[in-house]
Amino acid sequence: MRILVINGPNLNMLGIREPGIYGSSTYADLCQSITRWADELHMEVTCFQSNSEGELVTAIQQAYGKMDGIVINPAAYTHTSVAILDALKAVALPAVEVHLSDVSTREPFRQVSYAGMACFLTVMGKGFAGYREALQELAEHLAP
Ligand code: DQA
Repeated sequence: MRILVINGPNLNMLGIREPGIYGSSTYADLCQSITRWADELHMEVTCFQSNSEGELVTAIQQAYGKMDGIVINPAAYTHTSVAILDALKAVALPAVEVHLSDVSTREPFRQVSYAGMACFLTVMGKGFAGYREALQELAEHLAP
């Protein structure tokens, strides 16, 4: 099982940005944890982060035919990007949306998720552990 884990803008600033909301661990720590969890689940994982909407769309497009599933935290683009939604629909790979924080209890502008409309599951408010849950759910979803 080959899984692409995509993180959007400002998630490279984990550990520095708003630690009260996002915690004090870094993006490198997150990738290390994801790699360990993927190993335990016998998955091959690729972590990708970009601050650019176009690069995120390209990464999703390039997953077509190469990856079996996607875990995506589109960060701020969650709430604005029809382009990311359309890319997820285009490749039609099983996808899980993750948010570190519980966006359902935050500002009104965070209440819409475009990307989420193309995902079979959303995990939010569980910090880094949300990515583990997303990988586990994908493993179950993809199991024969
Ligand atoms: C986030 C929530 C988004 O609203 C925000 O713009 C982010 C991070 C999260 O992981 O909680 O950058 O996706």
